[in-house]
Amino acid sequence: MIRLPDLLAATLVGAGPGYMPERASSVAAGVDLVFDLLFWVSAFFLAVIVVVTAVFVVRYRARAGRTGPEVSPDHSTKLELVWTIIPLVIVLGLFALSTQVYLSMLDNPEGKDSQRVHVTGKKWSWWFDHDGGKGSKELHLVQGRTVVLTLASLDVIHSFYVPEFRVKMDAVPGRFTRLVITPTKAGTYPVLCTEYCGTNHSTMTSVTVVHPDQASFDAWAKEGQGKEETLLQVGIRVFEEKGCSACHSVDGTAGIGPSLKGLWGKDEKLVGGGVARVDENYVREAIVKPGARIVEGYEDMMPPSPLEEREIQGIIAYMQSLKEGT
Ligand code: CUA
Repeated sequence: MIRLPDLLAATLVGAGPGYMPERASSVAAGVDLVFDLLFWVSAFFLAVIVVVTAVFVVRYRARAGRTGPEVSPDHSTKLELVWTIIPLVIVLGLFALSTQVYLSMLDNPEGKDSQRVHVTGKKWSWWFDHDGGKGSKELHLVQGRTVVLTLASLDVIHSFYVPEFRVKMDAVPGRFTRLVITPTKAGTYPVLCTEYCGTNHSTMTSVTVVHPDQASFDAWAKEGQGKEETLLQVGIRVFEEKGCSACHSVDGTAGIGPSLKGLWGKDEKLVGGGVARVDENYVREAIVKPGARIVEGYEDMMPPSPLEEREIQGIIAYMQSLKEGT
């Protein structure tokens, strides 16, 4: 069935019905709802303003015998309240709805049966490290399985964009961003960069393959396994090479620093008050600026360690694996 909003907007962009790509993720319907609402509210008020303007232009035009303006009231409290309160209610409603949709993309379903993918943007390509170890230029997901994407950039700001999922999220150097979605439809969809990032920005594309089931994903993940170092292997290697293991155990025994076992996702009390969730950005800070937020019971002993982006991602993958006891 052709929806009216689609038809009108399609007429406007001249692309015919179905101008929006198909919806292939859990958040797509919410995004489209917000878009349609914004579109129709704007269209409605545009029409009202144009009609009223046209009527006034005709009704109050200069005519023979009219030498000055008509007498009119210069203030109406009632009218001002009406045109303040109605728009206020509308924009607050839009704000509430769009915030709810946006927050659903950042939801943290740790502990659920979710997939994790580390997404790395650089000039001018994407790289995807899937849990289980497979690294690829393509993003591979499973229909109906929630995925937590952790985005990083090696150089400038890029932005991960899959039109069919209705999501865009910046990949920012020096910090991690997160995106949580559930693909709802098997198929192959484009991945684009939607933040201008230099000469070859427009060719910074890839594809995302949504497998119909886990078995199909597993079969793909097995292909060519063992050829390259996985993120987890990077993490384990760096953990030894950089001497982290001298102070941090991985079996739960307390050392000079906290043990990494079971630490991922925990809420830790901090020296001087406050709580920090051990997530991607906390781990990055704890490595690069270890003195910034010290966990209660420990001292500010650790030297800053300028690890490379992939090494930090590796440590995170290692901590995630220790959480799950694998
Ligand atoms: Cu990366 Cu545009």
